[in-house]
Amino acid sequence: MQDNRIAFTLNGQRITLPADTVPTQTLLDWLREGARLTGTKEGCAEGDCGACTVVLEDGARREPINACLATLGQMHGRAIRTVEGIGLAVAEALADADGTQCGFCTPGIVMSAWAWTREGGDPHEALAGNLCRCTGYRPILEAMESMRDDGAQSAVTTPTAAVFAAPGQVFHLPATLAEAVALKRALPDAWLLAGGTDLGLRFSEHRENPPAVIGLLNIP
Ligand code: FES
Ligand code: FES
Repeated sequence: MQDNRIAFTLNGQRITLPADTVPTQTLLDWLREGARLTGTKEGCAEGDCGACTVVLEDGARREPINACLATLGQMHGRAIRTVEGIGLAVAEALADADGTQCGFCTPGIVMSAWAWTREGGDPHEALAGNLCRCTGYRPILEAMESMRDDGAQSAVTTPTAAVFAAPGQVFHLPATLAEAVALKRALPDAWLLAGGTDLGLRFSEHRENPPAVIGLLNIP
């Protein structure tokens, strides 16, 4: 029997969660209430505003995600970076360009911009998931023009099959399509969870606790 505890790297530090952690707890709730990393904000809790943006690192890659739609079970084996873990350079560039006013959107914009300094591409696209209601985007985009990749490397994610059992819930994380198909045959009522744009709301907003979930993020 493999270790059934969820483990990941958070801001460079290895974290192993207690065995009774509910795998469908959202990453956002855990960051704010469990890890007390309250820089990551909750706005809409339904994947629309980007206030909850964190970054998944994989070697040289940086992928921004909405922590409000991500579950802890899906984070097993991954490397997560929050606004507390990237230094102040991006935030200072935003402040210097008057790219922040009330500041509620700012941590999410900082994380999207930090990922963009590595990933490149159209900066408008990089901000497509971040709503700012008071500053406006022009100074934010001007700030991004002054930002450079900090060169930081991070852990490489290696997808591993895992299963987590909490009271009332089992969460499978298959690593291959064949494993996923076999699990779905064995557990026909299990929820199939991929990007979470629909099902994530049932965890974040409706606080549902399905008895069986098959997470598909590790399957190419
Ligand atoms: S809180 Fe709005 S996208 Fe997550
Ligand atoms: S600075 Fe207020 S919402 Fe962006």
